[in-house]
Amino acid sequence: MKTHCRFSAFVARVSCVLFLMALLFFGASSAAQAPAPQNQVHYDAQTHTFRIDGGSVSYVFGVNNSGELQSIYWGKRLPESDSFPTPHSLPALASFTPPVNTTPQEFTGWGGGLYTVPDLKVTFSDGNRDLVLHYVSHQVQGSSLTVVLKDISRAVYVTLSYKMDEATGILRRTALVENKTDQPFTIEQAASGTWNLPAAGDYQLNYLTGRWGDEWNLQRESLHPGKVILESRRGSTSHESNPWFGIERGGSKDQDHGDVWFGALGWSGSWQIAVEQNSIMQVRVTGGFNPFDFAYVLHPGESLQLPDFYGGYSSNGMGGASRLLHRFELSSILPESPDPRPRPVLYNSWEATEFNVNEAGQEKLAEEAASIGVERFVMDDGWFGERNTDHAGLGDWYPNPQKFPHGLKPLIDKVHSLGMDFGLWVEPEMVNPDSQLYRQHPDWVLNFPGRPRTEERNQVVLNLARPDVKAWVFQTLDKLLTDNEISFLKWDYNRNWTEPGWPAVSPDQEKEVYVKYVQNLYSILQELRAKHPKVEIESCSGGGGRVDLGILRYTDEVWPSDNTDPFDRLSIQNGFTYAYTPEVMMAWVTDSPSWMNHRSTSLTYRFLSSMQGSLGIGANLNKWTPQDFETAKKLVAQYKQVRGTVQHGALYRLISPLHGSEYSVNEYVASPGDQAVVFAFLHSSQMGNPYPRIYLRGLDPAARYHFSMMDGQAASDTPESASGEWWMNVGVQLNMRGDLQASAFALQRVP
Ligand code: DGJ
Repeated sequence: MKTHCRFSAFVARVSCVLFLMALLFFGASSAAQAPAPQNQVHYDAQTHTFRIDGGSVSYVFGVNNSGELQSIYWGKRLPESDSFPTPHSLPALASFTPPVNTTPQEFTGWGGGLYTVPDLKVTFSDGNRDLVLHYVSHQVQGSSLTVVLKDISRAVYVTLSYKMDEATGILRRTALVENKTDQPFTIEQAASGTWNLPAAGDYQLNYLTGRWGDEWNLQRESLHPGKVILESRRGSTSHESNPWFGIERGGSKDQDHGDVWFGALGWSGSWQIAVEQNSIMQVRVTGGFNPFDFAYVLHPGESLQLPDFYGGYSSNGMGGASRLLHRFELSSILPESPDPRPRPVLYNSWEATEFNVNEAGQEKLAEEAASIGVERFVMDDGWFGERNTDHAGLGDWYPNPQKFPHGLKPLIDKVHSLGMDFGLWVEPEMVNPDSQLYRQHPDWVLNFPGRPRTEERNQVVLNLARPDVKAWVFQTLDKLLTDNEISFLKWDYNRNWTEPGWPAVSPDQEKEVYVKYVQNLYSILQELRAKHPKVEIESCSGGGGRVDLGILRYTDEVWPSDNTDPFDRLSIQNGFTYAYTPEVMMAWVTDSPSWMNHRSTSLTYRFLSSMQGSLGIGANLNKWTPQDFETAKKLVAQYKQVRGTVQHGALYRLISPLHGSEYSVNEYVASPGDQAVVFAFLHSSQMGNPYPRIYLRGLDPAARYHFSMMDGQAASDTPESASGEWWMNVGVQLNMRGDLQASAFALQRVP
């Protein structure tokens, strides 16, 4: 009997918790309250709730009866007349799970019985480790809100900032931790905040994993009670995992339908996003610095700024979520936002020459590149110091006197005379032990004294956290950019950290290297851009090892992968665009057979694969036939006609290349629907099957669109023009057969 009673009490408590949760997440009361002004933050003093609206999203939280900042609602935008009651902390789950675990909160300290992932965990100098953060004050300014929390007894303050993007409903969150006590304390874990999703048992988590040469694999798995950790412990963002997530409710099989909550962390160092579902099906997503090997001592009066953590909601599936992110990146993240220029078509000689660069060879390639319409010529690795292989030279950033006896000027002048601008490869954070720099400053690298300094690609990592190293990197690049007319830097970073010691500071400060390194990297990039405003920068890390919303605030484009095989690129680029806009996705046309897979493809196939992002050419032009030049010239000209749509339009993934698919189709629609471009690929025909009919999306149904084939062939009954409704419902039949075939067509609104 007793057992039964206890069990009933337990069931009653769980039901009560679930009921309250349902009320809080879904039960917007219609009690008369002042309506939330459009696209603004509204604070309701009566209920102590905050409501932030933007795009098609409402985000609501409030101060509950315990003084905690309780998450209330995040989802589809609600009518302004709706408001929420004052939140109440939820009941405990028996004696094992105190209310702090059942009550969804915006930001938690580790203390007071918290078992879920904390946002902040500290150790005070007296050994006390309890931290309970309660609301103190707030301030509203337009679309921004700051809320101050404080520990219940000690002067540890956390200021949470929220800024809503009015167009996309993407919310930027961050936190500032301040020590206003009179003793230092150590931060052992620090996140920017926690996103709380409605409690539900049918979530699918999407995330991106990979390795060098095989980045951007889209993973999808059901969420269950427990924790999924997405992270990098490597000192930088990593190829292995990217700080992005997309969580779908229900099992929608359609790209463009269904509820999706998504987010991305703006941090290029070791990071962590924990996706945790508890036993009552609540989902919390907490992201910030990776707590592994982490400690940051905050002295009295000091503060620690957490990275920006962006989150959004879409009722238009994973496709809608990525379209919102793309728009947001273009309008709010990139250095040239809100209106970044379309990326120029570039040439890069890395795959053609590797380290074997010299003045005459580069000038010849530049002439050939200019002849097909290239707008930017980039010289890659091998131009500096004693850099003839990857064994030497990193750190010595002066032109190699044998390869460039007159410096870089003759080559740069030549490139300019051909009507292109000039870009240069650098890897400023690295040093080869075989270099003048390392011989002069062996103490400048990450290291633990007396321990091996593990070399990767024969190089070690300069410790950018050191003020002298930071100053040297800035001065070196500043001089390079001042002395030479350089429009573009390809900023490479070809290894992860090992032995991440910083012996020049006291042992208790050493682990701050994880934060200070990245802060200094950002500050160098920012200062360089301020001093050389015309210089654009690409973030490359042996491919896609450093792509995130932190580095993208300072760089105009990224290199998604060293794997340039045009078939592999279909899935690499597919994964990439879940998180990042095609504008920043550099895609080169390289030689066939590809060095990666020894796969042979036509030049047209290679071009159409690359034309789905920011087009570049990385082939050995010295080996091209006159016919190749003609084909390339035609396709570069076509790309220039549609690149605005590809780089700034809305991407619809019509047929996914994943899971062994024989097909891949992507559509890009210009805003406001004047042009659509479709790229279609066939891996290998089977059984004489026709290519699947292509049904377009995102067109203006009533408008008329003119159809034109860019490459390939459509069925003979394809009309020259038809309504948007036609193209979306009757569709287009392509005549594609054979292996590794590609086609592209465009629709242009008839005025
Ligand atoms: C790695 C990059 O991803 C390549 O494109 C090339 O720049 C090499 N580094 C040069 O060392």
